[in-house]
Amino acid sequence: MYKLLKTEGRAKKGEFHTPHGIIQTPVFMNVATVAAIKGALSTKDLKDVKCQVALSNTYHLHLRPGDKVIKRLGGLHKFMVWDRPILTDSGGFQVFSLTSLRKIKEEGVYFSSHIDGRKIFMGPEESMQIQSNIGSTIAMAFDECPPYPAERSYMEESVARTTRWLKRCKAELDRLNQLEDTVNPNQMLFGINQGGTYEDIRIEHAKVISEMDLDGYAVGGLAVGETHAEMYRILEEVVPYLPQNKPTYLMGVGTPENILESVERGIDFFDCVLPARNGRHGHVYTNRGKINLFNAKYELDERPIEEGCGCPTCTTYSRAYIRHLLKAKEMLGMRLCVLHNLYFFNTMMEEIRDALDHGNYAVYKKQKLEGFKQKEE
Ligand code: GUN
Ligand code: ZN
Repeated sequence: MYKLLKTEGRAKKGEFHTPHGIIQTPVFMNVATVAAIKGALSTKDLKDVKCQVALSNTYHLHLRPGDKVIKRLGGLHKFMVWDRPILTDSGGFQVFSLTSLRKIKEEGVYFSSHIDGRKIFMGPEESMQIQSNIGSTIAMAFDECPPYPAERSYMEESVARTTRWLKRCKAELDRLNQLEDTVNPNQMLFGINQGGTYEDIRIEHAKVISEMDLDGYAVGGLAVGETHAEMYRILEEVVPYLPQNKPTYLMGVGTPENILESVERGIDFFDCVLPARNGRHGHVYTNRGKINLFNAKYELDERPIEEGCGCPTCTTYSRAYIRHLLKAKEMLGMRLCVLHNLYFFNTMMEEIRDALDHGNYAVYKKQKLEGFKQKEE
């Protein structure tokens, strides 16, 4: 159940009630593809960096350790020892981005595993069965994320198929939720809007899926090569056709700048591998832009990554020490950077919610964006 608490223009602040607790939105989900945050973070660490929701992947967990194994061990929450919400992506996107020899048919997708080349089939029913075995809080619909650019005729066909798949996802999840030995009998389902950069296809699709009374609505197929300006235009066109009293989710986005712009256009949920990936490479976020700790100028820098940051890294260690760890290829170096970066994103989301609460999001956003552009010293 989504409670709309505040609005400012199209921007929304809300509360999403789930069987695993309440999610305050706008929210950034921290990516744990294989039930682990890359950079050697534990679920205890996730709580220390103020993570509200973890995101895992149907495709990866199906291959390893296997969703049936996870179910036998009591579901993903128990397995990874995480009692807050988990969202699982459906596998659709990963099948399209990671696998080879794909064949898309009406029934689903035939492809080869990126681990051992094994032939696998996944359709809407299989994706829902796997997500049900995992027992995530929120299951994503099985969709096709079409390539960019794509011909209009291909896009029309693809979106029509994604709509038929969504109906099958809903029917299958309704059935699975009623089975006696289901891990999470209250598993929720989010639909995914597609249509590339064709605004009329996007809008028509948004209208159709909005009538299906799903628990939330994602905008997919963005950040796949189009410009930021195009992505913002699509959000401006499509979000008004998604229910305002349900959460909206912009899949796979993005940078702090992208998030600030997209909140303004009505998005509640975000996820992105960037903070963890950048952290593993020594690239850390500050309120004056991103810095690279490998840079020689930090050799004798005794300051924390960000003055005043309350994260486990900044309250303890200096830039000079983290730089040394990174250069020595010590795992702790990566870990400290990822902890800071996730804390930075989660804290920015907290600031966004506070600003919306006080009705000054526009001012907050402008100041934050100006800060990112000022490089230190
Ligand atoms: N992650 C990023 N984009 C997408 C998308 O379009 N579909 C799915 N399922 N996941 C995504
Ligand atoms: Zn920090």
